[in-house]
Amino acid sequence: MTAKPARKPLVAGNWKMHNNHFEAIALTQKLAFTLVDRDFVATDIAVLPPFTDLRSVQTLIEGDRLRLLWGAQDVSEHEDGAYTGDISARMLAKLGCQFVLAGHSERRQYHHEDDALINAKVKRILDRAMTPILCVGESLEVRRAGGYLELVQAQLDGGLDGLTAAQVAGMVVAYEPVWAIGTGEVATPEDAQEVCQAVRKRISAVHGDATATGTRILYGGSVKADNMPAIMAEPDIDGALVGGASLDPGEFVGICRYRNPRGASP
Ligand code: PGA
Repeated sequence: MTAKPARKPLVAGNWKMHNNHFEAIALTQKLAFTLVDRDFVATDIAVLPPFTDLRSVQTLIEGDRLRLLWGAQDVSEHEDGAYTGDISARMLAKLGCQFVLAGHSERRQYHHEDDALINAKVKRILDRAMTPILCVGESLEVRRAGGYLELVQAQLDGGLDGLTAAQVAGMVVAYEPVWAIGTGEVATPEDAQEVCQAVRKRISAVHGDATATGTRILYGGSVKADNMPAIMAEPDIDGALVGGASLDPGEFVGICRYRNPRGASP
């Protein structure tokens, strides 16, 4: 597999259902005060606020010409129409979103999203020229039973079904073992690498090596500033999807500056 430096690292903060739009502005401003150009040269840094915050975050980032990227946590599988409560990819593209999560484990668990639905969402995101972050990952039961590589491969195949090699090359896949999300129980770097490498190998088998070399693969699950350097030392891990720690600007900046664990800008 090609050397890791070809892929620019990505750190994305998944705020989940936290922060109203005032709080979102305050958090974005704190990140803007701390992060400097060198941080953004080294790493793509994105925030993924709730829908109701997106316009405020967009206005702040664009108005102040910040180099932060932003995106949404979910999208409707429908183009538009009578779908009360849903948000379309067209709306998110108009809000300048660069990224949209698809198939986060909390969507799979609490909203019963399956791979076919997630695949439809991925296609909507791509149709509007945004980058899907396809989330995959096994539960604790599956991890204990040992079938986690097969499960992740099935989620990957389902989520990417019908996409072209070029589309897959531009995508982000986030491996998030459910047992590590919000639990403080981070996967070991070796465990995370094993699955991320299997994801890249599968993409290579289906779409070829050049495609697999392009796809960015993130790890997510209890990432903090102090465990990030070891995670990023693994060859197939290109960044992190960060939940809880993304709500704390100091911790999030520390994660973004994983090359220098003491937190100075690179
Ligand atoms: P966590 O969440 O960092 O709080 O474990 C990760 C995620 O769900 O994306």
